[in-house]
Amino acid sequence: MSRFRSACARSWREDSGLLREAMASHGFVTVAQRAEVPAGEIKYVEVNGIPIALCNVEGAIYAVGNICSHDAGPLSGGFLDGYAIECPRHGARFDVRDGKVVCLPAAVPIPTYPVQLDGETITVKVS
Ligand code: FES
Repeated sequence: MSRFRSACARSWREDSGLLREAMASHGFVTVAQRAEVPAGEIKYVEVNGIPIALCNVEGAIYAVGNICSHDAGPLSGGFLDGYAIECPRHGARFDVRDGKVVCLPAAVPIPTYPVQLDGETITVKVS
């Protein structure tokens, strides 16, 4: 029985490694562990030099561009209110699901990026 468990554990680890490699080959890059982005919080990360705000809305992780489209405020310095991320500079709000403006003074959406979870690991694709 323990030999079987050991074989299963090794197979699972090998499969996880293959999954990570497959995701990396499709442009997904590891950016953080889930524990680093608690519910209701924002974490700043960079992927290939692109500044990103990771947002945890009730356990779901979203990745948006960190630069406010109004006047380049750092969105990761703001806060989350439901699905809205608010810029700390002048209060513009964006929907983290699609980047659309939900409150002025911004008028232009921010980029959003695909997120995948590999266990506790958060990966983001920017290309
Ligand atoms: S820079 Fe973000 S609202 Fe002005």
